[in-house]
Formats: sequence, C-alpha cells, structure tokens
Amino acid sequence: MFIGNVEIKDKAFLAPMAGVADRAFRELCLSYGAAGVTSEMVSAKGFTMGDRKSRELLKLSDVEHPAAVQIFGDNPEILARAARNALEFAPDWIDINMGCPAPKIAGNGGGASLMKDPVLAQDIARAVVSAVDIPVTVKFRTGWDAKHINCVEFAKRMEDVGVAAVTVHGRTKEQMYAPGINYDAIAAVKQAVSIPVIGNGDIVDGPTAAAMIERTGCDAVAVGRGAQGRPWVFHQINSYLSPELRIVPEPPMAEIMRVMIKHVETICEYKGEKVGMKEARKHAAWYIKGVRGAASFRKEIGMLSSMEELERLAIRVIETEMANG
Ligand SMILES: Cc1cc2nc3c(=O)[nH]c(=O)nc-3n(C[C@H](O)[C@H](O)[C@H](O)COP(=O)(O)O)c2cc1C
Repeated sequence: MFIGNVEIKDKAFLAPMAGVADRAFRELCLSYGAAGVTSEMVSAKGFTMGDRKSRELLKLSDVEHPAAVQIFGDNPEILARAARNALEFAPDWIDINMGCPAPKIAGNGGGASLMKDPVLAQDIARAVVSAVDIPVTVKFRTGWDAKHINCVEFAKRMEDVGVAAVTVHGRTKEQMYAPGINYDAIAAVKQAVSIPVIGNGDIVDGPTAAAMIERTGCDAVAVGRGAQGRPWVFHQINSYLSPELRIVPEPPMAEIMRVMIKHVETICEYKGEKVGMKEARKHAAWYIKGVRGAASFRKEIGMLSSMEELERLAIRVIETEMANG
C-alpha cells in the first residue's frame, strides 16, 4: 500500500494518542513492526503562534519512519500554514484530525465537529493539500451521531481534493469510545473511494485485525488502546496476517518488564526523569494489567519517581508471577 508516494510495508499502524503515543512509544511500536506512526495531535493555531509545547509534540526522531504529524483546527488558512511549518520536522505525510470528540477540540470547531460541516472540512483538506508537497491524510469517525452517518460522503470529499488516504474510526462522535464498531460504514467507505482506507476501532490482536480487514475490505488497520502496555501487538498482528497465520502469544512477564523498563528509560531520556517518571505511571499500570494481584501494585505505581523504584517494582512483579505459577 502507498500513502501518496510513501510505501507502507505492513498492515497495522499505531493510531495517534495524545498523552500516550509520544516519541518513545512510537519508536517502540515501530521496532515491533508498526506500519507507521502519527504524532500526538497539535492545535494548528497554537503551533502557528509559536507554542513551544506544540513544537515538542511534533518532533520526530530520525528513526521514526514512516511517520505523520497530526494537526487539528477549523480554519483552512491556519491549518495550511501549520502544515507548511510542520515540514520542519520531516514527516512523511500530514494527518488532519477530524475525529476527536473531546469537548476542548470538538467544542471549538475542530476534530469531530467538522463531520457536521463537510464543506468546511473539505476546504481545510484542500488548503492543506495545496500547501505542502507531501501526502495529506485525514482521520475521522463514521459521523456525528447515529442519525448522521456521513463517512462515505465525507471520504469522497476528501478524495476529491487530493487526500492520499483516510482512517475511519468505526464509531460516531456521540459514541465516544462505547463498545461496538460499525464495520459496514467502514466497508461502505472502502467501496466508495479508491484511496487507501485504514480501519480503526477495538483492534487488539491478530484475529481482531483480520476481522476488520475481512469485514470492511480496508487496506490496513490502526491500533490505539490495544497497544497500550502492549507494543508487541504489531508483531502479533503481522505474524497473524502473514501466510503462515501464526499466533504469537503475549511475552513472558520477565520480557514485559524488560520492555517496560526500556520504554520508561526512553521517556526519561526525552523528557527528563521528573516528567518522564510521572508519565511512566500510566504506562507501568498498562504493562502489569494482566498480572495476578495487579491491584496491589497500583498504589506503588501511582508514586513512582525514579528508575530504581521502577526496577524494584519490576522484580517484585516477576517474583509474584512466578509464585503464582
Ligand atoms: C488516550 C487517547 C488519546 C487519543 N488521541 C488522539 C489524537 O491525538 N488524535 C486522533 O486522531 N485520535 C486520538 N485518539 C483516538 C485513537 O486514535 C483511536 O481512533 C481510538 O482510540 C479508537 O481506536 P482503538 O479502539 O484502537 O483505541 C485517542 C484515543 C485515546 C484512547
């Protein structure tokens, strides 16, 4: 599959996740075979006004490819300027967020609220496409609510102005993250456009990725929450989708703890130990999620403040697993 002129070798992308899929996590997911990654979303307005935090969020590592940067907003000119400025970070393509349901984003005309105004959404896509000479992709939902499922019209509008691929999260804005993915809507998008369609929603392993592809005909999938504390999910999906249809089990606990420590070390390297350890807490909680007695570690995780503490915790988690057989 190609996104514009960028060749994509595998089938499972890491979905963008603000506050989760930072540089450290994206690098880790790529090392496990993620097809591509996307930065955390950044306000086009904030970024073009020189916001320092936005710049940090858009930074990509040299090893981070294929990678997109994601911008959101409701003003075509500002998004176009943001896309042009973001070229500084050498992304392989620019992704526009038209699916975020968070009140802070959708309540201000950006993210999923653009699904209520497909003409404006198209103007934004057109402006961004003509502002940069790299591919532009758009990520959106099935619609605003059950009465307004308009992802097919939306996708066609995007294709018409030169968007190179679309990611469709199989839920409406109103559904937020409630269970239940609308595979038929994603399938209808795939039927309606000839650009690549990436299916998204509730993919957690090989079989769920295969089901998304089978039920929708989509060209690739994007995995969000299913990768939290499980960056090896991309290897599992790639193996399952290979001709051998191989099921790769979850790694043993010692390996999970090794990955967790390496992940947190990288976060601390990029953000410093103080900020890094704070951010590490949620990741640590995800890594030990399946452990018997995980609840008893949670309080300790909430207070983690150094690598030494994390290493001690890892040893006790492994010992607990072994004691429980
Ligand atoms: C913590 C979190 C942060 C997210 N941040 C973004 C974001 O910055 N941009 C975006 O387009 N989607 C964002 N999403 C949505 C995901 O990319 C994805 O569409 C959604 O989680 C459904 O996929 P999943 O079921 O695999 O998690 C976020 C989701 C979560 C859970």
